[in-house]
Amino acid sequence: MTLILGLESSCDESAASVVTGDRQILAHCLAGQETAHQPFGGVVPEIAARAHVETLPGLVEQALEEAQVRLADVDAIAATAGPGLIGGVMVGLVTAKALALAANKPLVAVNHLEGHALSPMLTEPDLAFPYLLLLVSGGHCQLLLVEGVGAYRRLATTIDDAAGEAFDKTAKLLGLGYPGGPAVEKTAEGGDPKAVPLPRPLIGSAEPHFSFAGLKSAVLRAADAGIYPIQDLAASFQQAVVDCLVDRTGRALAAAPQATALVVAGGVAANTPIRTALKGLAEARGLPFVAPPLWLCTDNAAMIAWAGALRFEAGLVDPLDVPARARWPLDPSAEKARGAGVKA
Ligand code: KG4
Ligand code: ZN
Repeated sequence: MTLILGLESSCDESAASVVTGDRQILAHCLAGQETAHQPFGGVVPEIAARAHVETLPGLVEQALEEAQVRLADVDAIAATAGPGLIGGVMVGLVTAKALALAANKPLVAVNHLEGHALSPMLTEPDLAFPYLLLLVSGGHCQLLLVEGVGAYRRLATTIDDAAGEAFDKTAKLLGLGYPGGPAVEKTAEGGDPKAVPLPRPLIGSAEPHFSFAGLKSAVLRAADAGIYPIQDLAASFQQAVVDCLVDRTGRALAAAPQATALVVAGGVAANTPIRTALKGLAEARGLPFVAPPLWLCTDNAAMIAWAGALRFEAGLVDPLDVPARARWPLDPSAEKARGAGVKA
């Protein structure tokens, strides 16, 4: 049975995991950096990279111990090689290279987005290719048709902010702190989602993409007006995001009738109203809805080890001089979305 050690360090989670080719998660170790970034209201790239330097080796030790395997037992070492904050990516990738070199094991350089894209299969053995994935996190907002290992068609992306980024920026401007998503969701619980008139950028548009920057600016203007309770601002913002995600995902489902299921992944998938609305959309189209457990939705190394296992089994290993990449589109043939702010 394939046995893979996986490392993740592309943003603000340091993680190491041991996963088998038959979906056993033997170890799943993770160290967040929330307190380090909290004073700055967002992730500071250099602080993140330094924290990975300090925590990643210990997490590798811990993962091997928990899995009760030695480095000599694994078939390959997988690590996120991009896209992400380059300092952090370099720490994880070079750690994996050093381990691969020392233990004489193959290296698998995993695209972080591929990790997210394949992660639902880890806990959902019946999920079959091709499926439509809505990937919504702090760094990404994409609709991907996952056709197979290494075969991804990007149907849509954001032309400005990612959905999680919109939550984080809105939380910041409402004074709700970091990380913003959970804070906005909690504040929204007591609010009226119809109280504040807000735009739904690109809804109904013929182009497939997402846009959230205008929404965030509209929340800022509404907050500045000083007439709306914060609960109503949060609830109305969240409802606008729900409406945008459902509209864009519905459009993609219509464009990809071959999809066998609708899958959501990424940190924003933790949001209950978003999950509920997407489930409703899938059911209305007669499709199964798959939302992996939250620990697998947010950044983790099990998804990297799992993608590593599938790539290793397909013979896709990488040389030791494979580069770390800040940007690395999953579907290089995808048409560029208009606007410059294409998030990786
Ligand atoms: O996948 P993730 O852990 O990291 C990456 O960005 O790759 O996602 C983190 C993002 C943050 O923007 C956070 O605010 C958002 O997910 N998030 C949420 C919720 N929980 C986390 N957004 C909305 N509602 C939530 N409950
Ligand atoms: Zn991610």
